[in-house]
Amino acid sequence: MNKEKILQAAVSFARQELEKDASGHDWWHIYRVAQTSKTIAKEERADLFICELAAWLHDIADEKITGNEQAGLEKVKTWMQDQEVDEPTIEHVMDIISSMSFKGGGKPPMRSIEGQVVQDADRLDAIGAVGIARVFAYSGAKARLIHDPENRPRENMTSEEYRQGKSTGINHFYEKLLKLKDLMNTDYAKKLAEERHQFMVSYLEQFYSEWEGKA
Ligand code: NI
Repeated sequence: MNKEKILQAAVSFARQELEKDASGHDWWHIYRVAQTSKTIAKEERADLFICELAAWLHDIADEKITGNEQAGLEKVKTWMQDQEVDEPTIEHVMDIISSMSFKGGGKPPMRSIEGQVVQDADRLDAIGAVGIARVFAYSGAKARLIHDPENRPRENMTSEEYRQGKSTGINHFYEKLLKLKDLMNTDYAKKLAEERHQFMVSYLEQFYSEWEGKA
């Protein structure tokens, strides 16, 4: 198994599959998650190859993109078999990417440190400066308002409500983003998440001040 060649092929595969996505789930999201996964993997002494491969492949099966999560997972598995990735690695990577989606919570915890690293990197990409940009890109794609003071954040949503409900960009901070720092698995990701979280808190304070013409 030629790890370097497999990783290069995974980059091309992810790029080709996700290049046209404009919902904030695009190729450059995958790029950032791969870079952050490598950073955390080194700090946490996780297997760098597994983390990087899972990161490149982690969103190809997403139902928002493929429309069918199971078919998407099969596609990723077949791709790895074609690349002659060994069986234990395929199983490990499939275990990671099938466990990754957030969908309002309720997913089983990651079983391996590599899974924890990639999940942390994916969640980190939803917060901080990049996270703020993604929220509003996603709101725009869904024709949602950036903010509506009369539309309050929703509590305890079902996954259906989470996907379908009419919310706003600002509400998404309370419904998801501000909760993410407490969901980090690894110590190094917790440190990064704390910094990104504080940046969002400052951002929201400034946003509300500007909204009322006070800043
Ligand atoms: Ni992702």
